[in-house]
Amino acid sequence: MTLSEPAPRPSASPHNAGISRGGARRLITVMATAAGAILAGLSANAGPSGAQDASPVYGVTLPEGYRSWEFIAPAEEAPPLDELRLTVGNAIAMRAYRSGTLPFPDGSILVKLAWKHVQSPEFAPASIPGAATTVQVMEKDSRRFAASGGWGFGRFIDGKPVDAAQHLTCFACHQARVQNHDYVFTRYAR
Ligand code: HEC
Repeated sequence: MTLSEPAPRPSASPHNAGISRGGARRLITVMATAAGAILAGLSANAGPSGAQDASPVYGVTLPEGYRSWEFIAPAEEAPPLDELRLTVGNAIAMRAYRSGTLPFPDGSILVKLAWKHVQSPEFAPASIPGAATTVQVMEKDSRRFAASGGWGFGRFIDGKPVDAAQHLTCFACHQARVQNHDYVFTRYAR
């Protein structure tokens, strides 16, 4: 898979090469305007208490206990991100995966963990996880997130949500590529 998500920090992204600061700001303004429908549809979703740990735009938080959820599939992302990834799901999502149910029912949550791709110091041909980079969440609630295919998105670094501009990219890419799989890329690895 050569498809690249934007780097966690916009300044580190090759996509921004050649775009001036002002240009980047204008670009963000344009993106924000284009995403007006999503914002309008979701602005009521700033989380239960507008919690600062909730993602902007969607109000999605890191779910409790996801580190012990079942794994769905690993993935590898080519440089420049150069990451190893693992997507896990809660019980509702896992039931849907096993039975091949689409669309995923409300209450499904998918979490993707990611680490830098590092060569094992003990055995060179092996790749192992280095530093953790992002944790990303997709949570299904077809009414609350009606404007984005029923999914709410969250990207977290060190447990804190990243900015709104990054959250305005999520649905567009998932919609463009995997609308026919309920906006979810990851398939169950048997
Ligand atoms: C440029 C395209 C692109 C953008 C933008 C993007 N994603 Fe994804 N996303 C992918 C691809 C490709 C995968 C599957 C490969 C992988 O796991 O890295 C994926 C996988 C995921 C998964 C695991 C479930 C699934 O669909 O496979 C989650 C959760 C996720 N993304 C959340 C997000 C969030 C949150 C954002 C915005 C902050 C976002 N994504 C932005 C391309 C994108």
